Amino acid sequence: MGESAEEQGAHESVARTLARRLLNTAPPLVAQPVRRASRALRGALATRAARRDEGQVQQPSVSAELGTALAATAGPASQARERYLELMKRCLMGLMYEDQIGAPPDRRARMEGMDWPSVGHTMIGRKRLDNIQFCVEDVLTRGVPGDLMETGVWRGGASIFMRAVLQAHGAGDRHVWVADSFAGLPPPDTSKYPQDTGIDLYLESALAISLEVVQANFARYDLLDPQVHFLKGWFRDTLPQAPNGSLAVLRLDGDLYESTMDSLVNLYPKLSVGGYVIVDDYGAVDACRQAVADYRRMQGIDDGIVTVDWAGSYWRRSR
Ligand SMILES: C[S@@+](CC[C@H](N)C(=O)[O-])C[C@H]1O[C@@H](n2cnc3c(N)ncnc32)[C@H](O)[C@@H]1O
Repeated sequence: MGESAEEQGAHESVARTLARRLLNTAPPLVAQPVRRASRALRGALATRAARRDEGQVQQPSVSAELGTALAATAGPASQARERYLELMKRCLMGLMYEDQIGAPPDRRARMEGMDWPSVGHTMIGRKRLDNIQFCVEDVLTRGVPGDLMETGVWRGGASIFMRAVLQAHGAGDRHVWVADSFAGLPPPDTSKYPQDTGIDLYLESALAISLEVVQANFARYDLLDPQVHFLKGWFRDTLPQAPNGSLAVLRLDGDLYESTMDSLVNLYPKLSVGGYVIVDDYGAVDACRQAVADYRRMQGIDDGIVTVDWAGSYWRRSR
């Protein structure tokens, strides 16, 4: 039997309660200089930075790595923050109260971001959620200026998680920008983008989630507030005039060559040096990978691309 809306609400209120408690007790990361972090935590941060700078390497699980350091050394407030974000990940992946009508979800596929959850709010899986946490916490720690943005949000889960990380660290001065048609993918424009030939995801009604539903999903986690902004429409129309200023984390999840290229051309110039661009479909969709390669070549970008998992990759902007 699936759970009622009431039961779902009860689970979500656990996350909200934890968040509120955190805000009342946990010192924000943005106010903690790295030099004051514990030795173990500094070690974890240094290891991550070293691995990242090596270029094409597997991104470690930040929860496993940072979580271990925190568990060993940090106080209850930091542990509570980590547990809030862990609970958020489980809720967003639909692992807390997945609809049990029919076959239960394949847990391995869900963790690896290989299925489309029936009720979960993101399809990106565990490692890519960990990667968002890593990137956002890193820009907060380093003081890299700018907001967070996702282009291609589906039910909103990855963007909701970005907002949750800001919330967990008391970062009230950064905003989350949520860009989507809220009507699914566009049909491929093969005369302009032959790389998208044959990608018929525009036929998938399951990918067309309305703005109202996405906003309601943010509200379920008590994270719909003035720090969140929505840009509705095709990227080719909305992104050239997007009102956001500088970005510290830019996450691309629009699948197509066109969607990836529109996002890079219009938003990469706004990415602060030291900030991150995450490409959800880099390993999964040839057309997306081609757009990234073409844009990097055009702009002379040679920052090392780090693999997150079978699909996601990212790089840190060095100049
Ligand atoms: C794979 S889903 C995103 C998954 C999501 N990030 C998550 O956390 O599960 C792709 C999304 O990109 C949007 N999209 C793709 N190309 C677009 C375009 N050119 N303009 C507007 N939206 C687009 C679709 O509407 C869809 O919501």
